[in-house]
Amino acid sequence: MTVFERVPQFVDEMRDIDRGQRIGAENDQPLARVEPQQGPARVQNRQRAFQALEIEFFDRLIHALFIGQCQADATEDEMTSGHAALVTRQFGARAEAYVESSVHAQGADLDQAAALLQGQSTARVLDLGCGGGHVSFRAAPLVAEVTAYDLSVDMLAAVARVAAERGFANIATQQGRAETLPFPDAHFDVVLSRYSAHHWHGFGQALAEARRVLRPGGRALFMDVVSPGLGLLDTYLQGIELIRDPSHVRDYSLAEWTDALAAAGFALKSVTARRLHLDFATWVARIATPQMQIDTIRALQTQMSEDVAAHFAIEADGSFTIDTAAIEVARDR
Ligand SMILES: C[S@@+](CC[C@H](N)C(=O)[O-])C[C@H]1O[C@@H](n2cnc3c(N)ncnc32)[C@H](O)[C@@H]1O
Repeated sequence: MTVFERVPQFVDEMRDIDRGQRIGAENDQPLARVEPQQGPARVQNRQRAFQALEIEFFDRLIHALFIGQCQADATEDEMTSGHAALVTRQFGARAEAYVESSVHAQGADLDQAAALLQGQSTARVLDLGCGGGHVSFRAAPLVAEVTAYDLSVDMLAAVARVAAERGFANIATQQGRAETLPFPDAHFDVVLSRYSAHHWHGFGQALAEARRVLRPGGRALFMDVVSPGLGLLDTYLQGIELIRDPSHVRDYSLAEWTDALAAAGFALKSVTARRLHLDFATWVARIATPQMQIDTIRALQTQMSEDVAAHFAIEADGSFTIDTAAIEVARDR
């Protein structure tokens, strides 16, 4: 069904909701989000009630028209024209660059993942959005089995090649989307995911899937770039990320991460915040950012206020430092 075919159904649905809420407002029954009050405050209440309705109307309209359509894309045309296709195009061609990337091949977060796996020699591990396979390579000597999972078959081919070169016979590769995992419930003892979630089209859906395939009592560690949260810094960060790589969806703030993990049914165990230095030339070369977009990022960097320049420690050659976090969660039941 196209966006336009959905409109009449949506309008009917909104009319029903609107009717129900207006009846409540006319009887001076407060709407759920409006405080019950007496006297002149009632009039204000009613205004606020209608404002709330308007906001809800537009929220729902946007959701029905755009987000609903994007979700349809993800299932119907995912590998041809949807976001998954864009991710695959961006990363497929750059698989070797991600295998070689020193930013990805090392880091204290990899040490933290390895520490989590200590004493788990019989564990089955999922590396979700494995990219060049650095988490899988770190996990393989410590556990029984690793499944390196990614959208990009080219990435997986590179992982399989390096695994064979290094003699890791316990790494299997599997292609697919984080949002729909082809594994049975409670299949894995540990789920690890690093620098991938900010590309996921369905962030909440993928987290729910990660919980589903984790056994009760199992642990998951999500490692990613995080937004500092503050509007100014957030807008700048998402801006440069998107200009660099159009498959970027969002670097979530820690608050967004912890809310989404809780909504997916995970129990929070720990959050480790870190800073990561990025060499500008290598950062853009890795994903083959076109020159015009490189110039745009450089122009933005020079135009931003001291607040932004200081937070991201922007250097003369464009290199900078971002916030990352490793969030450890458990599936309690
Ligand atoms: C930066 S790389 C990951 C790096 C890697 N985990 C590491 O630690 O070196 C991001 C990877 O996420 C994958 N990816 C993005 N969206 C995905 C999705 N929805 N499902 C599965 N994989 C996805 C991309 O194909 C890409 O290989």
